[in-house]
Amino acid sequence: MHVIRRRGWEIPEHHATPEHLFLDRRAFLAATGIAAISLSPTLALAQRAADVPDPTADLYPAKRNEKYVLDRPVTDEKINTNYNNFYEFGTSKQIARNAQALKLRPWTVKIDGMVEKEQEIGLDDLIRKMPLEERLYRHRCVEAWGMAIPWSGFPLAKLVELAKPLSAAKYLKMETFLDPVVAPAQKQTWYPWPYTEGLTMAEATNELAFLVTGAYGKPVAKSQGAPLRLAVPWKYGFKSIKSIAHFTFTDQRPKTYWEALQASEYGFWANVNPQVAHPRWSQASEMLIGVGERRPTLLFNGYAEFVAGIYKGLENERLWV
Ligand code: MTE
Repeated sequence: MHVIRRRGWEIPEHHATPEHLFLDRRAFLAATGIAAISLSPTLALAQRAADVPDPTADLYPAKRNEKYVLDRPVTDEKINTNYNNFYEFGTSKQIARNAQALKLRPWTVKIDGMVEKEQEIGLDDLIRKMPLEERLYRHRCVEAWGMAIPWSGFPLAKLVELAKPLSAAKYLKMETFLDPVVAPAQKQTWYPWPYTEGLTMAEATNELAFLVTGAYGKPVAKSQGAPLRLAVPWKYGFKSIKSIAHFTFTDQRPKTYWEALQASEYGFWANVNPQVAHPRWSQASEMLIGVGERRPTLLFNGYAEFVAGIYKGLENERLWV
C-alpha cells in the first residue's frame, strides 16, 4: 500500500466542503476564486484554446433525450468546468488551467481483451458511428456534493456492441491516457497510473451508462475529461473516469485507481446510498454546488428505477463502497 499525503476526500467532509462556500453561485465563485480567474487574460486564452472547434463540433448541440429529467437546476457551466477532480493535473479542485495541456487530437481508442477482434479506432471515426444525444444527469461526488450536467454523448452499450465481447467477458476495464509530459502528476509513482475504472457487463450495458463527448451543447471541456469520459450517475463520481484511451474486456475484476489507493473507503461498486456512511463522513445529504442548498441523498442517486435490478443476488458484495 502506498503512503500518500491526506488530501481531498481524505479529510473530513466539513473540512473538504465548508458550507459557507456553497451558499449561492456568487458566493461560490468568489470563494473559490473562479470569478477572479475567469477575468484573467491567461485563462481567457486557455478557454479560447479549449474552444477551438474539434472535427466533430458540427454534431453539437445534440438533440436532448427527454427521458432523463432533473430534480434540480443545471449547474452553472463556469462552476462545472472550474471545480473539478482530475488528479492527472493536480490534487486541488482548480485544475482547469493545467488541464489545458491535454492534447485532444489525434486521440485513438484501443479496444482489446476478450473481444472477437481487437481494434484501435480514431475518436472522430468512433463518434461519427455513434448516435449522439444530450442527457441531463445528476452527478454525486463521494465528498457529499452534487451537480447537474447536460452531457452529450452516446450509450456505453453502443461501444460494447461495436467491440463484440466474448460471452466469457464479465467486466469492462477503462483506462485514462498515460503521458507524464502532458500530465506531470503522472510522474508521481506513488499513484497507480493510469487512472483505471471498471464496470460489470450488466452495468456497462445498462441504459444509463453514458460515454460523454460533449457538455453544455458543445465538445466537452478538458477539465471535465475531454475528449471521452464516462458518466454513471447512480455511482459516486470517482467511477466516472475521464479522458479514456483504452477499453479492455476481461473476466477479472479490474483493480481501480481508488481501490489501489484506499480500498477500505473507495471500492469497486461505489453505488450511492444515503444510509451507508463513508468511514469518515455521512452520505445522508449532499450540498448542491452553486445552488447553496443541502438535500437528502437518494438511493442510487435517484436512479434506482433504472439500476436496482442489476444488483439482485449481489447482496453480499460491498455495493455501497
Ligand atoms: N478521471 C481521471 N482520469 N482522473 C481523476 O482524477 N476524478 C474522478 C472522476 N474521474 C478523476 C476521474 C472524480 S473523484 C470525480 S468526482 C469526477 O471525475 C469529477 O468529475 P468533474 O470534475 O467533471 O466534476
